[in-house]
Amino acid sequence: MTTSWAELMGQIEACHACALREGCARTVPGEGSPTAGIMFIGEGPGADEDRLGRPFVGRAGELLTKMIHAIGMERTEVYICNAVKCRPPGNRTPTAEEIAACRPFLRAQVALVRPKIIVLLGATAGRDVLGDQFRVTRDRGKWVERKGVWFMPTYHPSALLRDESLKRPAWEDFKAVRDKARELMKG
Ligand code: URA
Repeated sequence: MTTSWAELMGQIEACHACALREGCARTVPGEGSPTAGIMFIGEGPGADEDRLGRPFVGRAGELLTKMIHAIGMERTEVYICNAVKCRPPGNRTPTAEEIAACRPFLRAQVALVRPKIIVLLGATAGRDVLGDQFRVTRDRGKWVERKGVWFMPTYHPSALLRDESLKRPAWEDFKAVRDKARELMKG
């Protein structure tokens, strides 16, 4: 079990548990507050993230940042990471094996941050955390509580860029996150 951020970051950097590390420029572990109340989990780094070593800094990232601002938060107050820490070639969806190889790092991040709310962005994050039966269209917008942590699955920001009609339900999900955060973190 990883005990410190420094150790975890070193392990991610050195990891060759799957082939993704071979094909990426740099690892994208995640960023934000180490004591964040809200954590956002995406799929995996794209081209911009791979170049900069930071999560959600491309077009989808700009939209995520706007939505975080719209619920009255800053990126520095939340924690943002991905199911896989290395860019899949051509931005393909990471395989079940790649996601499983990276899962200990995600678990360690959750254990270190201890967020009260985890927002699952899209089908990959949803399946990774909630299981293979997860379907984003069916299951988004419904809270799942496990061991005192509240999970809100919603659409991935990239899906919102492709299909404008998904923005309204995604915004409802973000408002539910804002309200739950107020409820859980008041005082
Ligand atoms: N899409 C993701 O899932 N994660 C990123 O970091 C960027 C785009």
